[in-house]
Amino acid sequence: MCGITGYIGPKKASEIILASLKRVEYRGYDSAGIAVSNSKIEIMKDAGKIADIEKKLDFSKLEGNMGIGHTRWATHGTVNTQNAHPHTDCTGKIVLVHNGIIENFAELKEELEEKGHKFSSETDTEMMAHLLEEEERKQPDFMRAFLAAVKRVEGSYSFVAMRQGDGRIYAARKSCPLVMGVGKGEMFFASDIPAVLPYTRDFVFLEEGEAASISASDYALYEVKGGKEKEKRKPTHVDWTPQMAQKEGHAHFMIKEIFEQQSTIRQSLAADVGEGVKLLKKAKFITTVACGTSYYAGLLFKEMLRQAGRRSDCVLGSEYLSGIYERDTIVVAVSQSGETADTLNAVRYAKEHGASVLGITNVVGSSLSREADACIYIGAGPEIAVVATKSFTSQLVVLYKLALTLAKKKDMVERMKDLSAIAEIVLSKNEEIRALAEKLAAKKDFFFIGRGLSFPVALEGALKLKEITYLHAEAYAAGELKHGPLSLLESGIPIIAIAPSDASTPKLVSNIKECKARNASVFAVSDSDAVLREAELKFVMPQVDAVFAPIIYVIPLQLLAYHMAVKLGKDPDKPRNLAKSVTVE
Ligand code: M6R
Repeated sequence: MCGITGYIGPKKASEIILASLKRVEYRGYDSAGIAVSNSKIEIMKDAGKIADIEKKLDFSKLEGNMGIGHTRWATHGTVNTQNAHPHTDCTGKIVLVHNGIIENFAELKEELEEKGHKFSSETDTEMMAHLLEEEERKQPDFMRAFLAAVKRVEGSYSFVAMRQGDGRIYAARKSCPLVMGVGKGEMFFASDIPAVLPYTRDFVFLEEGEAASISASDYALYEVKGGKEKEKRKPTHVDWTPQMAQKEGHAHFMIKEIFEQQSTIRQSLAADVGEGVKLLKKAKFITTVACGTSYYAGLLFKEMLRQAGRRSDCVLGSEYLSGIYERDTIVVAVSQSGETADTLNAVRYAKEHGASVLGITNVVGSSLSREADACIYIGAGPEIAVVATKSFTSQLVVLYKLALTLAKKKDMVERMKDLSAIAEIVLSKNEEIRALAEKLAAKKDFFFIGRGLSFPVALEGALKLKEITYLHAEAYAAGELKHGPLSLLESGIPIIAIAPSDASTPKLVSNIKECKARNASVFAVSDSDAVLREAELKFVMPQVDAVFAPIIYVIPLQLLAYHMAVKLGKDPDKPRNLAKSVTVE
């Protein structure tokens, strides 16, 4: 989940790498570092966020036209300077950054220590620098040594390495993202497209088990397993612009991305679902696999499919391997990043068992887009804040369109065109939500409740709140309260009721009354007078078709979490312990 960049070209490498690292800091932000190669290898690194490290270290002192950089999300070893990347071998001539987990690191480290290698960090990455040193002793062609070392590694990785006095940068990937940016007289490696968008929009997406080397004007691709050089692939041009990955005057990416929903909801409705419909038509059973916010989108898709008379379920990516596989199933994998390890493992498992996979992702060239049999892009544009906001509503728009097209409900797809205008009405009441957030920020525990399609929305609302405020928030199907959670209610505990008017409204009103009887304080997000009249705090929602309510009702919950985080002095873009794409299991 770490951020990686590499640059080779005519410009000052440390400047490009620092700017690129800032653009991928959402992938991990507990430490950062840069190495450049000139007549020798020079490294600067420290623990902390880049902005704080910059106050202590002057990266501009690193002179040279090729370099590599890293922002870390710790897996092996605590957060400190020694464990920050880049890492070197015993000679200091080989330098390396890494994303992923080397599973056989302990054995390899032991073997290298027996050969006399001295380690200065607790990371699995440093082992790889020493392994490269060892392999280079056997074969001075560094590409060969690099391939031999990578071949010995088990686990997940994207590696980017340099050797002193060598005019190339080397990389390899397995189960972790890595792209090669192809510029004019300059080349890049990056873990994500936004890292290098200001310099190029042409990318070669490294495939599973593939290695590459770049010079300023050329590149070569290799297969790690057999070590053979592969044919060059034509770079893919992406239509994301650098501006899309900027804050554009907003205090945080999260609030920018929440507001973008007035256009992304419309954009995503234009997604071409044709391939998906073709694939799903053949399915006897449809299983959606996803994690986190994408899983909640999947829960709603499952309901939409069931309403369309299709047999369907939705499983967490990390739980899919426990044999829930059914014959003639089509698997729909939903992932904003397209790189989530748990989801990709489920995809691979499904494919091994003969199932076809439909990917729903936001990222062109992502692992999911390449491994799925067909892929639909949600078209939300780059999402930089660690927490998912606009990607959730875009996923819902695409998944609804898919389910409704499959059910031949064209009129309903047509009605979805009103949604972006309704989202705009909700967003125009941002200040109202901010005021409500100020009132709620002193509370410590939150219960989100909803019935039917509003239950996944409650789950998402609670997830958003806990992710960025670090407050305790749980979501319950409202009818479940009386089966246990009611015992937790104490005077003043906020119950956030997600309550669009629908057939379940009378029952939800009863559930609210049960909470009030235990002195809980109810905050209703609703368009129903019956609900609103019961609430102590309320946010009055515009009218929306009950079936589409999840796409709209999640917006005030995103705003609530955002404003509470800001009020509590937390950074909503970079919540502690989290990273944007979770590429480890
Ligand atoms: O990239 P993906 O959609 O596969 O990511 C799945 C989850 O890791 C992600 O939704 C996570 O839960 C976010 N932090 C939610 O805000």
